[in-house]
Amino acid sequence: MPHPTIDQCKAWQALAEHAREMCDCHLSELFAGAPGRHTAFTRQAAGLTLDLSKQRWRDETLERLLDLAREAEVPGAIRGLLAGERVNRSEDRPALHTALRLPPEASLVVEGEDLVPSVHATLERMATMVERFHAGQWRGATGRAIRDVVNLGVGGSDLGPLMVTHALADYRPEGVHRIDVHFASTMDGSQLADYLARLNPETTLFVLSSKSFTTIDTLSNARTARDWLMGRLMGVNGEEGVDAELVMRQHFIGVSASPDKMHEWGIAEDHQLEFWEWVGGRYSLWGAIGLPIALMVGMQHFRELLAGAHAMDCHFSEAPLSDNLPVLLALAGIWNVNFLDIRAHSILPYDGRLEFFAAYLEQLEMESNGKSVTHDGREVGYSTCPVLWGQLGPNAQHAFYQLLHQGTQAVECDFIAPLRRYDEVEDSATRAHLKSQHRLALANCFAQSRVLMLGDEAIDDDGPRPVHKRYRGNQPSSTLLLERMTPSTLGALIALYEHKVFVQAKIWDINPFDQWGVELGKEIAGETRRILEHQADIAGMDDSTRGLIEAVWAAERS
Ligand code: F6P
Repeated sequence: MPHPTIDQCKAWQALAEHAREMCDCHLSELFAGAPGRHTAFTRQAAGLTLDLSKQRWRDETLERLLDLAREAEVPGAIRGLLAGERVNRSEDRPALHTALRLPPEASLVVEGEDLVPSVHATLERMATMVERFHAGQWRGATGRAIRDVVNLGVGGSDLGPLMVTHALADYRPEGVHRIDVHFASTMDGSQLADYLARLNPETTLFVLSSKSFTTIDTLSNARTARDWLMGRLMGVNGEEGVDAELVMRQHFIGVSASPDKMHEWGIAEDHQLEFWEWVGGRYSLWGAIGLPIALMVGMQHFRELLAGAHAMDCHFSEAPLSDNLPVLLALAGIWNVNFLDIRAHSILPYDGRLEFFAAYLEQLEMESNGKSVTHDGREVGYSTCPVLWGQLGPNAQHAFYQLLHQGTQAVECDFIAPLRRYDEVEDSATRAHLKSQHRLALANCFAQSRVLMLGDEAIDDDGPRPVHKRYRGNQPSSTLLLERMTPSTLGALIALYEHKVFVQAKIWDINPFDQWGVELGKEIAGETRRILEHQADIAGMDDSTRGLIEAVWAAERS
């Protein structure tokens, strides 16, 4: 007999019943009847404040959701994750990104091995590399100090470092040789082409970041970069030219879980940083994949990022479910998706430094929980991950907020902002202006979530308004405030979302750590490429794809 699915359990049934009572209830009524709602639904941990009062729920709803978490055995799952159980069942391995941020004095013995010493040995190797760059001692093949580092990677080997380097741009260390970090991910080569047109090959180094070291996107960019370096550098030092081996050695670092493949590609052994199969790609910024972050902000700030994430891990492990930020954020999402039928989720940071946060979360959440088969191979009979997208809130106000306010889709929103900013700006007049801009952003952040909640009731109006000016409101949201944006609070924020994804996956009974759904597309792309290049027969193609391929051939002939 298969065990009952989560939607057959008592707590789920009770929630479904409760949702029938709640579905006609407007957020404005929930607020009208409950002074102190903000305090009742707000929790804090690791420098973050999470206000869940604008969710369409009551105390009773949360109680029932907590019952659901218990019935789904979330507490045991949290312990299992952190202890290194093989939670990634389809690939039969643990998911131990939390081990990457354990402090050096900790110990985590998994299947007979303490992982902490190897984690810190890698951090030490990174530190040595970063020190060489920051001392201006990492020199290119012609002897000039490296000045620009281009990360070639995609997905988890790109988005985490890209997002964090932007978020922590204020944290560059002072008094060190400056390294600028760039990111090229797209297989069409457009980002890379742009860098190649403006960077100096003598002072540019590429970090090849790929867990598998087989990803065609990254390897295509890497090959173009290698040929560019060879073409420009060989022959630079007079007749003898620069040695190809020296170019490979001084201009490439590899980061991967596959040392053999790095070796085959020609990465010098002491310029390889290895990580482990038990670190999922989209959970990997905390170790060697974070090298571009450490190069930009320095090792001290990188370690503070890890410490912030570790503080959130401790909170996740120790706080009761009813005070546990990742659990509560996850339950709000479950309530919206599975009981209120709200299947769109927008991420809206009111801080320009979080420009890439939504893109990062799109991978984290949708690649993790965009699944429809349970652990024991049954099709789920309920919705899982919502469609998640976002942009900087202030810009999105002038783009898609119209839909949030007056469209036909119900959307859950996450508003994210730091409480304090610009204290460090030296010039007092500029500081005053910038602080006032920060308050402007906060005012907009709070105003938007309020209008989304209350609709027309947000305004004192004399009479009825024309239909096209009406606001329904009742769109639920969460607001996340960071004390300030520091490496530590950013680390906590990212870890919060990682754990939220895990809790939701546990309740939905799906595996958040694999991504089989991306494989078929890769395979078919390989076959399509062979046809495009006339190395395979087009006969088996469907009519649409055949037409598109023929259009390319016609364009190439003309
Ligand atoms: O194709 C999806 C994916 O495997 C992601 O999960 C991963 O982050 C990305 O590709 C890059 O993979 P790799 O680091 O192995 O190049």
